[in-house]
Amino acid sequence: MTRGPATPTGSYPRTRMRRNRRHDWLRRMVRENNLTPDDFIWPIFVQEGDQAETPITTLPGVSRMSVARAVEAAGEAKALGVPSIAIFGVIDSALKTPLAEEAWNPENLICRTVAAIKQVHGDMGIVCDVALDPFNSDGHDGIVRDGQVANDETIEALVRQSIVQAQAGCDIIAPSDMMDGRIGIIRDALDDEGFEHVAIMSYAAKYASVFYGPFRDAVDSAGFLKGAGKDTYQMDPANTDEALREVALDIDEGADMVMVKPALPYLDIIGRIKQRFGVPTFAYNVSGEYAMISFAAQAGAFDRDQAMMEVLTSFKRAGADGILTYFAPDAARLMADM
Ligand code: PBG
Repeated sequence: MTRGPATPTGSYPRTRMRRNRRHDWLRRMVRENNLTPDDFIWPIFVQEGDQAETPITTLPGVSRMSVARAVEAAGEAKALGVPSIAIFGVIDSALKTPLAEEAWNPENLICRTVAAIKQVHGDMGIVCDVALDPFNSDGHDGIVRDGQVANDETIEALVRQSIVQAQAGCDIIAPSDMMDGRIGIIRDALDDEGFEHVAIMSYAAKYASVFYGPFRDAVDSAGFLKGAGKDTYQMDPANTDEALREVALDIDEGADMVMVKPALPYLDIIGRIKQRFGVPTFAYNVSGEYAMISFAAQAGAFDRDQAMMEVLTSFKRAGADGILTYFAPDAARLMADM
């Protein structure tokens, strides 16, 4: 059926939104947010021993790496334009204790990895997680006393952990433990030890999320937690105002950058934090988000690359300045080929 000119409704037909979508060059020209490898921090898992890689079944395509392999992988990421990596360790069960002392052993797996990577790739940024869960026989981020995660005693341990990481050459200390008051105390301790140039990226709004599941498999903390939750320190997924308060406190205590975690179910939180505070804001595209996309793509639900790019772009659109993502090398490789 042919029809005459449409009846004007509002600004139509003079305004036609589709005009700007007609060509690829035009869509690129009007694009508001562009993803680049500069946006990425690549989280990696390191393990003891000579085995170069051990696959993680719940994270298809991600492996635990030996220190030597991690040094190589860092170089590969750097060549793809990824500026920095975040290091997580798989600690031998025998070294896990109720007080998590291995966390501040200057020769622990994390410190050795930082030093090894820095020695070869001195111009790459290194982010280290500060929390006790990989080292703690209770699987919690803090020290357990009488069935509770003890806030202030945990902070003393986190301070020691931060100092050995800074000594090893870490550029950004990233406390993910959610204890109250730890940012200011860690900042003071770093300054006292002459590490005033070491930055703090606070996991400021970290929710008690089911999407950390594959990560807990990867660092082998799930078994030690024995089904316990982290709800007494991580945030309630139903809350927004509380996230803004957490961020305000951490900035006040000296955080240089803040993070929202997980990312995809919390885009509103990323947006509100960036708008309200205007500080460098990072999104952690966590293990469960990565797993969701990987397994759905494996099942044929959609194309993995397209899903990856759409989701990563959504974090930038929401206001994130950077993204921690296991997709970093794959996405950077895809951009290099485009
Ligand atoms: C530990 C920590 C967790 C993650 C980063 N640091 C897990 C947790 O809080 O239980 C999760 C990252 C991911 O799922 O990719 N403090």
